[in-house]
Amino acid sequence: MKSRIVLASFFLAIVLAISCSKDAKIDGSNNTNDGSYTFTFPDKTWEMFPVPADNPSTLAGVELGRKLFYDPILSIDNTLACASCHKAQYSFGDNTPLSNGVSGLIGKRNAMPLFNLAWADATPSPHKYTWNGGATSIERQILAPVTLPFEMGSNLDTVVAKLQRHPIYPAMFFKTFGNSVIDINNVTYAIAQFERTLISYNSPFDRMIRKEIPMPQEVANGYAHFQSGGAGDCGHCHINGNLFTDYSFQNNGLSELPDSGLAAITGKSYDIGRFKVPSLRNLLFTAPYMHDGSMKTILDVIEFYNASTKITVTTSEFITKHKPLGLQLTAKQKGELYAFLLSLTDSSFISNTEFHKP
Ligand code: HEC
Ligand code: HEC
Repeated sequence: MKSRIVLASFFLAIVLAISCSKDAKIDGSNNTNDGSYTFTFPDKTWEMFPVPADNPSTLAGVELGRKLFYDPILSIDNTLACASCHKAQYSFGDNTPLSNGVSGLIGKRNAMPLFNLAWADATPSPHKYTWNGGATSIERQILAPVTLPFEMGSNLDTVVAKLQRHPIYPAMFFKTFGNSVIDINNVTYAIAQFERTLISYNSPFDRMIRKEIPMPQEVANGYAHFQSGGAGDCGHCHINGNLFTDYSFQNNGLSELPDSGLAAITGKSYDIGRFKVPSLRNLLFTAPYMHDGSMKTILDVIEFYNASTKITVTTSEFITKHKPLGLQLTAKQKGELYAFLLSLTDSSFISNTEFHKP
């Protein structure tokens, strides 16, 4: 009996050792001889996302994209970088409802956290990025913040001219694209390569599913409410394997007078109030919540779904079907749902120095 316990703890030690070595490698960067960047995943439940054939990821490209992401050179007055609104400590989002752009102008939407972005490219819809689906690819999305007056306020020719004059960038573009003459497409290609590397898969919940650590009963119950049509019913929109979003656009009943949302892009009235379903990973870092940053805490969000969703013609049936009473979760169920949501917090993602300022 005793020897069995010793044996069991020996195996446990090995499992822990393996999982620790896995932790150390979660950056996903495998040095390859040909300079290509290899994405690595913890197990087969993570399927590789599509990468555009004309912009494969390379070590040099990711390095260049990371430098550009942190460089205020992209803004008109050299004060604002992508990372000014997409801060690593907030899972590459911001902690204010709306972020400050150049010369103090304020945008209309909450800065989105950046992680696990590229799986949106596996969905059939052409509307993929930003709250209202205005961008069709990670590459194309980048042109908006660089030029919008309430973000970086620059123009593309100015950006290219500044980079071309820079002491280091021409050589980095040469190393990545074989050409030291910089063009704006290559700027977006490099930043997109860096953004694709921002992958988060090491929350306690992931480790529970991988059986590296035990799942507390409270989390298991919360996960059940999350999925159950009779309780939280969150899974219709916020699941999709490990990603906790299906990357679709839905009206979750946020407002009686919804903002245009996806309709601003499609021109279709049935898209009014539909916004990109955000992932529920890393919520602890990404407050405030919703496209307008109107909810301060995770508990506010649970209370919203529990009792104060609003019905308009475009509100999803997965919200309206619980009306008029709402979800009617008990205090215990709400606590369990909260525990489950917290278990999706991946601290190793925000502390990964591969993603920090070079
Ligand atoms: C002034 C703050 C600000 C700056 C600077 C900024 N962003 Fe954003 N970012 C936002 C906001 C706000 C949104 C949501 C926009 C919307 O939906 O209309 C957003 C959305 C995004 C998205 C969409 C994420 C998704 O899940 O669909 C990506 C990707 C992104 N930004 C990347 C960048 C990059 C790359 C840069 C630098 C070139 C950058 N951002 C600069 C505030 C900013
Ligand atoms: C009909 C699809 C749908 C259902 C069902 C749904 N959500 Fe959402 N959820 C969304 C959409 C869409 C948004 C973004 C809405 C916006 O900003 O206008 C969102 C936003 C959120 C946010 C804010 C995240 C952020 O980064 O701002 C949280 C947290 C959240 N939902 C949790 C839940 C929970 C918990 C449940 C179940 C009780 C649930 N959702 C059910 C579609 C849904």
